[in-house]
Amino acid sequence: MAEVSVRAESKSEGIVIHDDWPGYSLDLFSYPAHYYGDLDCVIIPHGVIMDRTERLARNIMDDLGDHDIVVLCVLKGGYQFCADLVDRIKALSCNSDHTIPMRVHFIRLKSYLNDQSTEDLHILGAEDLSFLSGKNVLIVEGIVGTGKTMKTLLKHVESFRPKMIKIAGLLVKRVQLSPTCVPDYVGFEIPNRFVVGYALDYNEYFRDLNHICVISESGKKKYKI
Ligand code: HPA
Ligand code: MG
Repeated sequence: MAEVSVRAESKSEGIVIHDDWPGYSLDLFSYPAHYYGDLDCVIIPHGVIMDRTERLARNIMDDLGDHDIVVLCVLKGGYQFCADLVDRIKALSCNSDHTIPMRVHFIRLKSYLNDQSTEDLHILGAEDLSFLSGKNVLIVEGIVGTGKTMKTLLKHVESFRPKMIKIAGLLVKRVQLSPTCVPDYVGFEIPNRFVVGYALDYNEYFRDLNHICVISESGKKKYKI
């Protein structure tokens, strides 16, 4: 007989959003009027993002509690997730014997033009990460798309010889991923569609949207460069 496990795997794909899931109608939520017509649907409402983030903070706390960590926030798309995740870890640290002393460092990556990943990845603010040597590093990223970006970043961070590297990704797209790039902590696994909001952009637009939404074809045209 197959064994039934009630324990979540320590490395899970998070909440899985299937390809045939239509999302929520935009009429059910409020969002800025300047984006009317630019979106297809709400794929993850802001409140659900926050609830999932709270649980990821607990998982991180369970695994890393009492370790000093350096949080490496990947800008710009990861800023909101990183801020909310750090906030939740801080709240847990205040209310238990378990704590995680945290330092936060920011780096900036850029590889997307319109909705396409480009070959030239720029890493800014990461020239000298020698302070990561011997440290426990938590890389916090908003979305892992092709996985190429994360792989390049991981190699770069590894070259500074940290003691441990963990990756937290709010979203992972269901595309072919190299196994070295799957985050240790995943918020949601989503279909291979271009999403925006909660700091994720399309040519710098939509970062000022709370919910994670699917961009419409007319939205892509309007903000194309
Ligand atoms: N949205 C925003 N940024 C991204 C995406 C996406 O779907 N995939 C990779 N970077
Ligand atoms: Mg972007």
